[in-house]
Amino acid sequence: MIDLKFTVNGEKVTLKVPGAKRLLDVLREDLGLLSVKEGCSKGECGACSVIFNGKVVNSCMVLACQADGSEVTTLEGLSKDGHLDPLQEAFIQTGAVQCGFCTPGFIVAGRALLNRNPHPSDEEIKDGLSGNLCRCTGYQKIVTAVKLATEKDGSDV
Ligand code: FES
Ligand code: FES
Repeated sequence: MIDLKFTVNGEKVTLKVPGAKRLLDVLREDLGLLSVKEGCSKGECGACSVIFNGKVVNSCMVLACQADGSEVTTLEGLSKDGHLDPLQEAFIQTGAVQCGFCTPGFIVAGRALLNRNPHPSDEEIKDGLSGNLCRCTGYQKIVTAVKLATEKDGSDV
C-alpha cells in the first residue's frame, strides 16, 4: 500500500491504496468519479481519459504510484459554480452524444486541446481527439461541438 497524495478536480486528496492500482480504479472506486469509463482497458479507446498534469492521458494506463503528487481533472471537475463548461454546452447544442459512453472522454480530451490551442483547425481537432473512439456518432458532430466551443470559450482548467 502507498499513501497517494494528489489533487483531483482542485481538491487535495490523500488515500492509502495499492501502488499498482490503476488510476482509473482509484478515481471510480475510491473517489466515486464515475464519468471516467472503462472501455478497452488497454489504452486504445480513450473512454477513461483524464487531464493529468495538463495533458490528456488514458487513466487505465497510469498506476496509483505514478499519480502521486499529480493534478488530475475529470469531467466532474469541468463545470464551475453550477455552470457547464462551454464544451459540455456545445456537445448538447450540436447533439454530439448518442449512447454517451465515450462522451466524458471526448469532452476531457477536447478541453485539454482547447486549453493548449484555443482556436484549433478541423485537422487539429481531429488530431486532438484521435485517441478517443466512438461507436455511435460518426464523429462529425463531435468535431462540430469542439469548433462551437471555440466561439464560447474563455475558461481554463
Ligand atoms: S479504457 Fe482506457 S483507453 Fe480504453
Ligand atoms: S456516443 Fe456511443 S460510443 Fe460514443
